[in-house]
Amino acid sequence: MAVRLGDEAPDFTAETTQGTINFHDWKGKSWAVLFSHPKDFTPVCTTELGRAASLKPEFDKRNVKLIGLSVDPVDSHLRWEEDIKDVTGSAVNFPMIGDPDRKVADLYDMIHPNASDTATVRSVFVIGPDNKVKLTLTYPASTGRNFQELLRVIDSLQLTANHSVATPADWVDGDDVIIVPALSDEDARARFPKGFEARKPYLRVTPQPNR
Ligand code: BEZ
Repeated sequence: MAVRLGDEAPDFTAETTQGTINFHDWKGKSWAVLFSHPKDFTPVCTTELGRAASLKPEFDKRNVKLIGLSVDPVDSHLRWEEDIKDVTGSAVNFPMIGDPDRKVADLYDMIHPNASDTATVRSVFVIGPDNKVKLTLTYPASTGRNFQELLRVIDSLQLTANHSVATPADWVDGDDVIIVPALSDEDARARFPKGFEARKPYLRVTPQPNR
């Protein structure tokens, strides 16, 4: 069964490079990014894991925990981590789930048989403090993900979780935001003291409220 936006992120207990983890207990009230890669000791995955590790301080700042997964076992992940450090200069500093029996991969529908019968695709699940799924992404094995983009969408998700706003195309932290159509002009004036510009009655922009 696919895991969809708004669903509760399925809980599991799994072996990881940092010991046995119960997902919901480990995550607690933080945000989390659960992401799969197709296979250990492969080139694109090596660059991705190094990049994710180098950006961990940025995820920490946003109260986001990272956890990786593939269907390789933990001992393979641990051997591969030496290569990742060697090639990218970044030591993997978050747990990686070993999922050789595909328990978690199946739970999160990370194996797409028409892409590969055996390997997980590049899935991303961003999960909120309430354990609900806030964002999903699926990339093929041949395309490495952009982890700065992941930080950008987390900035948007966290902003919209705390204010009645949405973010426009190509928004980055600090840009103006959109007031959700459900809010009346009167309520918007009370809620956004910096005011707003109505480009259309349904398209009202205001400075980012938490700045
Ligand atoms: C890679 O990470 O480079 C990769 C993994 C599986 C298939 C193709 C590429």
